Amino acid sequence: MEIKNQIDREKLPRHIAVIMDGNGRWAKSQGHSRIFGHRHGVTAVRETVETCAELGIQYLTLYAFSTENWARPKMEVDALMELLVRTIKSEVKTLMKNDIRLQVIGKTDMLPERSRNKLAEAILQTQDNKRMTLVLALSYSSKWEITEAIRQIADEAKAGKINTESITEETLSGYLSTKGMPDPELMIRTSGEQRISNFLLWQLAYAELYFTETLWPDFRKEHLYAAIEDYQQRERRFGKISEQIKNKAS
Ligand code: IPE
Ligand code: IPE
Ligand code: MG
Repeated sequence: MEIKNQIDREKLPRHIAVIMDGNGRWAKSQGHSRIFGHRHGVTAVRETVETCAELGIQYLTLYAFSTENWARPKMEVDALMELLVRTIKSEVKTLMKNDIRLQVIGKTDMLPERSRNKLAEAILQTQDNKRMTLVLALSYSSKWEITEAIRQIADEAKAGKINTESITEETLSGYLSTKGMPDPELMIRTSGEQRISNFLLWQLAYAELYFTETLWPDFRKEHLYAAIEDYQQRERRFGKISEQIKNKAS
């Protein structure tokens, strides 16, 4: 059976998060510069976005640039920012065609003005789209996001708007940039690295993690199907024991 048909449409994750890693190594293995790898990563982005929308995934979050990535050589950072502008420009059409809404999380005030403007335009243009939400994590750091949330909560408490005794997990979730989104049930990282790299630390608390050796520019539909299929084989126990989960299902 074709792998796509092995996917149970009733058991799809609502939210998939992806750490798109391995562009540099992909390019280097072919004797090219790292930027060449980033450019080819765009094909994998397009295919992943379209496939998730086709399957009926509600939220897809792509880790495109971390705050730590600002420390890379200036030439690479500049090229990535340029690529971002160009990609948004060329992909808005695809987002509109597929009824996909764009959102961004991260410390976007660090982005060059041109990138910020292009992003704002695309977010506005796609804001009424309903089929799927594509969240780009750009200049993103989870520790920064959590720190900001705590700072805001502390400010509100100081101003007497929040009673500290009433602070719950939901309160904190409501101050994160992912406010209103379901937590990702599945997190995929390409390129063989098995770490989180400051991505959605709070939101991934109970996510199923899937690591593949495939480098991001090689990531295609089949790899995504394989990850979802693997996810569907797992028993999500949330601290309970297997029998409790099975009894509930039966
Ligand atoms: C991921 O690929 C893209 C970004 C972090 C922007 P890398 O650029 O990290 O590629 P490797 O990990 O060096 O191969
Ligand atoms: C994580 O990849 C960030 C993105 C994919 C955007 P990195 O390649 O920067 O991660 P580390 O530093 O190797 O963990
Ligand atoms: Mg990397």
